[in-house]
Amino acid sequence: MEKNIALLPGDGVGPEVTRQAVKVLNAIGAIFDHKFNFNTGLIGASAIGQTGNPFPKETEQLCMSSDAILFGAIGDPKYDNDPKAKIRPEQGLLAMRSKLGLFANLRPVTNYKGLEHMSPLKNDRLQNIDLVVFRELTGGIYFGRPSGRSEDGNTAFDTCTYSKEEIERISKLAFEAAQGRKKKVTLVDKANVMATSRLWRETVKEVAENYPDVMLDFMFIDSAAMKLIQQPAYFDIILTENLFGDILTDEASVLSGSLGMLPSASVGEKYKLFEPIHGAFTRVAGKNKANPIGAILSAALLLELAFNAKNEAIAVRKAVEQALTEGYGTEDINHGTPSSTEDFGNIVVEIMNNDNMVDFNPLTII
Ligand code: IPM
Ligand code: MN
Repeated sequence: MEKNIALLPGDGVGPEVTRQAVKVLNAIGAIFDHKFNFNTGLIGASAIGQTGNPFPKETEQLCMSSDAILFGAIGDPKYDNDPKAKIRPEQGLLAMRSKLGLFANLRPVTNYKGLEHMSPLKNDRLQNIDLVVFRELTGGIYFGRPSGRSEDGNTAFDTCTYSKEEIERISKLAFEAAQGRKKKVTLVDKANVMATSRLWRETVKEVAENYPDVMLDFMFIDSAAMKLIQQPAYFDIILTENLFGDILTDEASVLSGSLGMLPSASVGEKYKLFEPIHGAFTRVAGKNKANPIGAILSAALLLELAFNAKNEAIAVRKAVEQALTEGYGTEDINHGTPSSTEDFGNIVVEIMNNDNMVDFNPLTII
């Protein structure tokens, strides 16, 4: 197959980690006889610097005319420390999610043999973790209007809004995915307090009737936050709104040992975007130290979900797992002799090329 991929490296460590993902995709192309054409676009702080807009029109067009989008990271401490900044890099990410209609963000969480010591959790809690968070991505408090300040500036407000339709479309995806997995969906909400959460419960119950083979349960966000570290293996699919999903997935990343490990897919009716869940991590940017696994596993998700290339995706996941088993890893997960970002990417490619992978239990993602 021949496919066009929009490449949006973004800020901070984004460019160096996406470079590894591109390397891996090119190696997959050579092994499986596919051609991937990459076209680069600006986004985030780097786009503000060059165009004044964190999601320029050209980037939007590039995304819309590509078969899939591979994105790095966004953010710059310059803006974090300036609450008065009118244009912020994050606006680019939110505009992209909204304009491309990427309403479902899938964040698979697993852990790796040999990396248990990187997690603050006790070893026995880390067995059999295989969950996917389905985070609603284009609604809720991130996008609700009105949002702002009172005239005197002493009061601030945000609005959380959800429509039935917004809840239904992501719920269907979650139930369909559950059918191919452990057949359990946990809706995480705050229905004891929030009206939007009560609409979520009502709507998800209705959707569930069409999936009688899938078990549905409900959990309040506070309790789910606790359960996630107390008994992470309890979960199969967590279905939740935008803000709760954002918070829970950072929490979930400690199960895998590092925020740098987790990939994600953001999907809508028309477009699909793949990105590691970590941010720009400016402190290590340009130092060839960032963990590229989140980006590389995002490339695996891209192969599977955008191009329906399941074997290719498995080859990438196996190679990552093999590299970790052999003791390779960047400094966040390897305190002995860490690999550089580039080296880790090269090792993954080398393993794929040699196809000398030992017996594996390929990671189930979705
Ligand atoms: C994420 C990030 C973003 C979010 C930020 C950068 C706006 O934390 O993708 O999880 O909150 O959605
Ligand atoms: Mn986040």
